[in-house]
Amino acid sequence: MQVEEIYLNLRDKLGDVMPEGEILLKAEVAAEIQKLKVERDAVILGHNYMEPALFHSVPDFQGDSLELSRRAAETDKSVIVFCGVRFMAETAKILNPSKTVLLPTEKGGCSLAESITAADVRALRAAYPGVPIVTYINTYADVKAECDICCTSSNAVAVVESLKSDTVIFLPDEYLARNVARETGLHVIVPSVLPKPGAPRPGTDVEHVMVAWKGRCEVHELFTTEDIDSVRKQFPDVMILAHPECSPEVVAKADFSGSTTAMIKAVEKSNAKRYLLLTECSMGDNIVAANPEKEMLRLCSHRCPHMHEITLEQTRDSLRYMRWVIDVPEEIRVRALKSVERMLAVGPKID
Ligand code: 13P
Ligand code: SF4
Repeated sequence: MQVEEIYLNLRDKLGDVMPEGEILLKAEVAAEIQKLKVERDAVILGHNYMEPALFHSVPDFQGDSLELSRRAAETDKSVIVFCGVRFMAETAKILNPSKTVLLPTEKGGCSLAESITAADVRALRAAYPGVPIVTYINTYADVKAECDICCTSSNAVAVVESLKSDTVIFLPDEYLARNVARETGLHVIVPSVLPKPGAPRPGTDVEHVMVAWKGRCEVHELFTTEDIDSVRKQFPDVMILAHPECSPEVVAKADFSGSTTAMIKAVEKSNAKRYLLLTECSMGDNIVAANPEKEMLRLCSHRCPHMHEITLEQTRDSLRYMRWVIDVPEEIRVRALKSVERMLAVGPKID
């Protein structure tokens, strides 16, 4: 795509919120990326949280964690540029050991991924022998390698149900665990101290237990029920959508909860007067850019600093200098692959 075509597309989507000169600069960078993409035989995957100018210009595929994992599994390109955070790029590498996977930032962290280590999972397995361990995809490869199956926010309930087990361990997001437990009828415990191997396991004497961890998303934990009450008071006709990384109290008060893509689809399908998304704010901007007739309210002090490390300029430099290369040690990768592939077999599929 040439600069002119990208510029016109971006102006159409972002002309109301971005000065023309800025749009032109972004279009020039995006055109460079398109050229580099062909030269490098690359595919660009863009998470729904990417900034609007990036989201609406360079990704070959946009989506939530599950959709982008599936796209990564299917690609025949030699290079995968992951416009998202590190755990997402690692998942792409786990699925594609022979390809070069690039993350356009050196860091790209996530408070959930950083909340748990492989040693923590080994300790949980020793404390709860025989209990299947589900890990949210927001974890690093060495943690995935210690678990039985992965899940994302769009298939967590299906994954837990697929295990057909009275007790499951669900890591590391306590709020997602509580939200999934409510839907699957499990009783949640969050052990502050793990029982010694062989010792009684407090809390598991009741049937249908989910053992959770104390990880939190530093963005979604900030939304409160007071936020919801005050917005509803001012705008009684608002449709409120919450990501399941929000607290169960917030999710219970929302009108809809689902993965980032599920939220986008729900807004697109709905005829509500206006919307409030309880998630990273760029997503609201991306929805409005594509659906200008939708009115989006904003509680935009809550942004994911890790997702925002990725810009068009960083993405261009990633392809220009082939950085930052994601590697996963082979011994860890093959074990993590089992968890990821088991999840992909559960579904749901993408169109
Ligand atoms: P999704 O899988 O719903 O896109 O969520 C990823 C994430 O990190 C949300 O904070
Ligand atoms: Fe991690 Fe939260 Fe950022 Fe998602 S929004 S990447 S869960 S810190």
